[in-house]
Amino acid sequence: MQFQWYPGHMTKAKRQMQEDLKLIDLLIELVDARIPQSSRNPDIDSMGQNKSRLILLNKADLADPKQNEQWAEYFKQKGWQVVELDARNRGSVKSVTNRIMEVCKEKLERNRRKGILNRPLRGMVVGIPNVGKSTFINTFAGKACAKTGNKPGVTKGKQWIRLNKNVELLDTPGILWPKFEDSQVGLRLALIGSMNDEILNTEELCLELITLLQRDYPGALCTRYQVSEEAEPLAVLEEIAQKRGCIRKGNEIDYAKAAALVLDEFRTGRLGKITLEKPPVSE
Ligand code: G4P
Repeated sequence: MQFQWYPGHMTKAKRQMQEDLKLIDLLIELVDARIPQSSRNPDIDSMGQNKSRLILLNKADLADPKQNEQWAEYFKQKGWQVVELDARNRGSVKSVTNRIMEVCKEKLERNRRKGILNRPLRGMVVGIPNVGKSTFINTFAGKACAKTGNKPGVTKGKQWIRLNKNVELLDTPGILWPKFEDSQVGLRLALIGSMNDEILNTEELCLELITLLQRDYPGALCTRYQVSEEAEPLAVLEEIAQKRGCIRKGNEIDYAKAAALVLDEFRTGRLGKITLEKPPVSE
């Protein structure tokens, strides 16, 4: 996965989303629970004004449960509903259905009072690349009763996943682009593996990770690799390389191999459930 956003891409994606937004009542935004801020583009907040909002803290299975709670609280304070999720898991996706019904209850009630009885509420999924939008839609669609075809009055070619008689979901997600305003955003996206490692300096990235872990998750590296965490990050990486046999001919340390190993183990959750950013203290 690699972010390659050009102005043309962004304009097209934005225009498409603005069109789709006209069709929906509920915006379901996926963020990566390990970096809930850096994995979202706040422009969606102005684009999605007047829509009901649901935030899915996805990949919650890889993130720190305590931080998941704090982030959920942070988003709730904005007036949005939040669900912690593993989009690959059908059981976990089921709780989203219940929450959607809750979010939409008021609107359904209002429609009923106006005598509008047969118009289902419509939602769409949005998020930056790699947060799990397709996975979520697939799991969700697998659970839903049926896909609905084109309907009169609905833009041609739109497919809706029918959840029940009251709720439908657009089957194509809206794609947002990350907001690289702060250098930390790029770093965090790179750490979770959302940027192509080939264009990054893996060793530097891994040293950043080690620094973060030493500060926020002391013990994580020691538990996994039985290394001393007191040393400088480079010395820690060297010890990991030795422990894991990342040694080249001539007994040289293969830092690149060790760095790739640590990053991979972090991304797949083998270093533990880790969140890389905390919610802003006050807003
Ligand atoms: P996108 O549409 O937003 O771009 O994301 P997509 O669904 O393609 O998901 C990106 C990767 O994240 C996939 O892994 C997917 O399996 C994984 N994923 C999605 N949701 C979750 C989740 O809640 N927890 C975890 N742990 N992983 C999740 P991949 O390696 O790219 O593909 P695959 O080989 O797993 O299919």
